[in-house]
Amino acid sequence: MTQLTVQLNRLQLANPILVASGTFGYAREMAAYVDFARLGGIIPKTITAEPRRGNPPPRTVETPSGMLNSIGLDNDGIDYFIETHIPYLTSLGTSVIANIAGRNVDEFVQMASRLGEMEGLAALELNISCPNVSGGVDFGTNPEMAADVVSSVRGACDLPIIAKLTPNVTSIVTIAQAAADAGADAVSLINTFLGMAIDWRRRRPILGNKLGGLSGPAIKPLALRCVYQVAQSVEVPIIGVGGIGTIDDVMEFLVAGASAVQIGTANFYNPSVSERLVDELPTALSELRVTSISEIELSE
Ligand code: SIN
Repeated sequence: MTQLTVQLNRLQLANPILVASGTFGYAREMAAYVDFARLGGIIPKTITAEPRRGNPPPRTVETPSGMLNSIGLDNDGIDYFIETHIPYLTSLGTSVIANIAGRNVDEFVQMASRLGEMEGLAALELNISCPNVSGGVDFGTNPEMAADVVSSVRGACDLPIIAKLTPNVTSIVTIAQAAADAGADAVSLINTFLGMAIDWRRRRPILGNKLGGLSGPAIKPLALRCVYQVAQSVEVPIIGVGGIGTIDDVMEFLVAGASAVQIGTANFYNPSVSERLVDELPTALSELRVTSISEIELSE
């Protein structure tokens, strides 16, 4: 019998296929396409302490093998999330991991302590890596700041904590180590790469915010490299994210050292892909002659 459950320190998931924050709305939008109860979990769009309008349009642009976004954490704020989205999300029969971003440590702590009181949430993902808002990546580019926010949230809330890290750093291993030492149950590797697109005829950037985060197939090799490097050096469960759209992509991340994965940009062009990947997982495991995710490892 194949065993699909995965254990990420205090967080247990029914299987390793999650959907990434910002690519699945607050799940209602995807109800026609996915049987939510089949997924390992849902990570809704990042919420902030106050509602945010986000960045000026255009906020997305397609590139040859990826997507640039400069959404700017557009969301209705934590009060609306608690009143409107949590009751629905926690009724779906899957793990719900709330993703939060604070402008400072206090905001992270206040949001975490409120969400820690909610029935039915499985974990918190700390977005310390958004490249599209001022200060968004600061916590994720400095090991002391990353450690401070993780340990402060851990002190304020009993939920398992996942730190979502940025690849826009010199050494992601250093940041992952700091998050792990501060008490993160897992790290999500990686958020988007800072990029841009230019309309040369108009001689200006296409995105309203000029720069944006690149996701999709273009970043898969870069994300795999980050997962591999962290897995080699840091004792912390890793959730791989970046350009995953097929079962081969999933298996590559698991072999590189991830314990679970998030499906992101692929949700936009194939909204049911996450459920299909859950279906395909047992056959891929049997090809490797393993019966559980934890048995998957790199061959030396
Ligand atoms: C955004 O809202 O700008 C994207 C979220 C992120 O990259 O963390």
